[in-house]
Amino acid sequence: MTRTTTTLSERLTDLDGLTPLTETTRSSDPAAVYERLRARWGNVAPVLLEDDVRAWLVLGHRELATVLRNESLFSRDSRNWSLVAAGGLDPGSGVGAILSPRDSVYYVDGTRHRHLRRLIDDAFDGFDEHRLAVTVRQWCESTLDRVVGKGEADLVSEYAWAIPLLAMSTMFGLGPEEARAMLGHARRIFRARGAEGAEALAAQKSLIVELVARRRVRPSDDMTSAILRHPSLPTDEDVQSAVSTMLVLGSEFEVAWITQSLRMRLTDPRFDGRSGGMLSASDTLEAVLGSIPPASNTGPRFALADTTLAGRRIEAGDALVPGILGASAESRASGDDLWLEPGNLAYLTWGAGPHACPVRRPARVIAQVAVEVALRRLGGVTLTVPVDSLPATGSLWSSMPWQLPVRFEAPAGRA
Ligand code: HEM
Repeated sequence: MTRTTTTLSERLTDLDGLTPLTETTRSSDPAAVYERLRARWGNVAPVLLEDDVRAWLVLGHRELATVLRNESLFSRDSRNWSLVAAGGLDPGSGVGAILSPRDSVYYVDGTRHRHLRRLIDDAFDGFDEHRLAVTVRQWCESTLDRVVGKGEADLVSEYAWAIPLLAMSTMFGLGPEEARAMLGHARRIFRARGAEGAEALAAQKSLIVELVARRRVRPSDDMTSAILRHPSLPTDEDVQSAVSTMLVLGSEFEVAWITQSLRMRLTDPRFDGRSGGMLSASDTLEAVLGSIPPASNTGPRFALADTTLAGRRIEAGDALVPGILGASAESRASGDDLWLEPGNLAYLTWGAGPHACPVRRPARVIAQVAVEVALRRLGGVTLTVPVDSLPATGSLWSSMPWQLPVRFEAPAGRA
């Protein structure tokens, strides 16, 4: 039987009646889920990543800052997770595929992290945002050329899902056919179970391996060449890891941001249920950040020693998921936190501490152009289903509607 009272000193493994983390991303009212979790457990709540894979969800603003900023106590490296140390993480499971240890900027700490991170930070120093905007716009226009003629489309699978990966693939130096192939593999990974997913992953990897080998011999003016040129002389593996981490991590959050912005334009009464209106694309993107940030939760940290957080007993080897949306909601409610300065919510959106997002400005360019072009081209677009029937989906980290089926009344041509 599920107990409804607990003491702060109970261990993660001893608690029962835990909420799946996906409830925070699949609910149409995430704030209510956070409130319920907070009321029952406080600012650090036990959740399930899947079946019996447990973690703490960090829901408090101060606690979030502590976890994100203190890597000597809260590591990103899942070799420090008790589940991995005990051999209990199945690499074939959904969580195993995302959280198995690997040598990538997002998954390591300390000196190795700083080395990999410098490759990215330096490569993006002086980055040409105008050129990126042109690339994104071209992909948006050609993608919409294909769909508007049909008179109706699903703006998630046919647009929001496609643009970030196509644009980033070009930014890293893949040709248009290779970029389309990258997207095709990503779709197969998303849909796949078992062998098909592994094949598609391997195909993506070989596109990146070939790209790095090509640019090593014949550099160009793309981001892969910029990373290869780094004075620290990165190995091919370092560069492959940087490029694939950025493609995967960046894509998911971008898709969520673009989709939520289009959903808001189509469903929020302030926009009269249509895609037009007085607010600009950039106002819409900002409004989304303030209500449902693209990264609702982010990758777990692993406690390196026994400690306490919001009074809860955390044991060495426990996983802790930084709950960005949950902490934003808490900070809005309490209002006495020094972190609560103007622009703070946007700050939380990008994380904090050594792993905070290194590419905020390019990330914004991609989302902004994608939303701008859609709003301009899809002038008289309307949803073909009632708002409250929009099927919700959510990974462990982000939340968005599964589909945005629309009909075009008077689509505009290219600018
Ligand atoms: C909607 C857009 C995006 C949002 C909201 C976002 C948000 C974030 C957040 C919250 C983190 C911190 C994760 C953590 O501490 O656990 C992060 C890390 C990261 N992001 Fe972004 N991101 C976005 C787009 C992108 C794009 C387009 C790229 C690549 C081109 C990218 C590359 C990365 C990388 C490499 C890291 C890991 C950095 C490290 O571990 O040092 N992100 N991002």
